[in-house]
Amino acid sequence: MRVIIERRKDVLAELGAESVIRTLQEKPHAVIGFATGSSPVGVYERLAAAYRQGRVSFREAWGFQLDEYIGLPEDHPQRYRNVIRDAIESRVDFSPGRVHAPDGLASDLEAAGPRYDRMIEQAGGVDVQILGIGSNGHVAFNEPGTSFSAGTHVETLTTQTRIDNSRFFDGDVSQVPTHSLTQGMGTIMKARRLLLFAHGEGKAKAIAQLVEGAVSARWPGTIMQHHPDMTVLIDEAAASQLELGDYYRFAWQNRLPWQTV
Ligand code: GLP
Repeated sequence: MRVIIERRKDVLAELGAESVIRTLQEKPHAVIGFATGSSPVGVYERLAAAYRQGRVSFREAWGFQLDEYIGLPEDHPQRYRNVIRDAIESRVDFSPGRVHAPDGLASDLEAAGPRYDRMIEQAGGVDVQILGIGSNGHVAFNEPGTSFSAGTHVETLTTQTRIDNSRFFDGDVSQVPTHSLTQGMGTIMKARRLLLFAHGEGKAKAIAQLVEGAVSARWPGTIMQHHPDMTVLIDEAAASQLELGDYYRFAWQNRLPWQTV
């Protein structure tokens, strides 16, 4: 696991965007995994700018979202399918039908999970997965206690997650759905490269557990300590509870020329 700590969020977003751009330049039909939430927004802005500048094309690429609320109507602005359409899909040149999300309106939600995992595999598997993390350590919508080997599945949201996400629902927790259809940690671990973004003091505990805690379903992201290509990109506030912060800063500042994200 590589940890990059920077004071400025835009430096982190730039590193993430350049990683995706390089992947698409080397492999135009690459599969990109998209996360919702505020943390990856700067990455999407930079990808859209790179597309406008003619540096990158998504025409042959695929996009797969991490998760979706169950039961939000198709036109709901917080339906993650709509959030990602606005944040990135509509701002670049994806070919029609190339960006997918778990179907939170499926009549058979149990079958919708494995179907989604098969679609990812048929597209070739995720090359770069963008991730955030919840204040309670949830990744995608994998809440504490989730199985590390699970594929895409239905997950009940914790009260903490619903309170955190109520800011997108007029501050009204009762409007936040109680269930989601989310890629499991097993699905996420199959991605070839993982980039996880977090900003702010509210993420400090979850980041300390993710990077330095014992691998435990109590903190679902800790299984990613086992991933061979995992980078955590965080600001100073999110890094504030790390025991070995100075070491991570030193390692990044003294990286070898070929060591990149
Ligand atoms: C939601 C999403 C997660 C995301 C988390 C953090 O719950 N399902 O994928 O990581 O929010 O969001 P933010 O980046 O806004 O803090």
